[in-house]
Amino acid sequence: MRIVVATHNAHKVREIAEILSDHEIVTAAEAGFFEEVEETGATFAENALLKARTVSKALHLAALADDSGLCVDALGGVPGVYSARYSGGTDADNRALLLKNLRGEKNRRAHFCCAAALVFPDGRELVVEGRTNGVILEEERGTGGFGYDSLFFSDDLKKTFAEAEEGDKNAVSHRGRAMRQLAKML
Ligand code: IMP
Repeated sequence: MRIVVATHNAHKVREIAEILSDHEIVTAAEAGFFEEVEETGATFAENALLKARTVSKALHLAALADDSGLCVDALGGVPGVYSARYSGGTDADNRALLLKNLRGEKNRRAHFCCAAALVFPDGRELVVEGRTNGVILEEERGTGGFGYDSLFFSDDLKKTFAEAEEGDKNAVSHRGRAMRQLAKML
């Protein structure tokens, strides 16, 4: 099946193409969709659906979108759907704000969550969620990855996501888990 991935993030497209290797994956731009869909939903699933529906409607093709973020227990699930916009600045600013807000906090438990939505031109919809658990360190470790990776010490890998090889991270990551679920359903 031909599936349009509703993201402009090349890293995500590569990971999705690897997991959904039985299907033809094309980017939104390759399929002629250049708009940025605003993430106005209150949950990861709502945002993923919003993006997938918009792209599927515009192109009359099956469209896949994801939305993800970091949820910290001691902060009541924050930054959550606001993970990318937490500080209003760069990824480094977001990490600095997270450390500041967790200063002196003993409970450092957190998880990454990813919702993936696949919307077909006839209106059928599939939504799945993947999750990966860990703790937020008191200082950064590792230079790989992006976002909050250098602060997230993975329960599965016993290292931060920024210290892990890309393949090892994908094997346990929220996005990898969501996409593999979707691949199975297809
Ligand atoms: P989005 O799914 O592209 O909207 O990403 C939301 C934000 O969540 C990113 O900008 C990162 O700050 C954070 N995030 C999502 N997944 C990861 C990850 O695998 N590692 C580190 N940060 C992530």
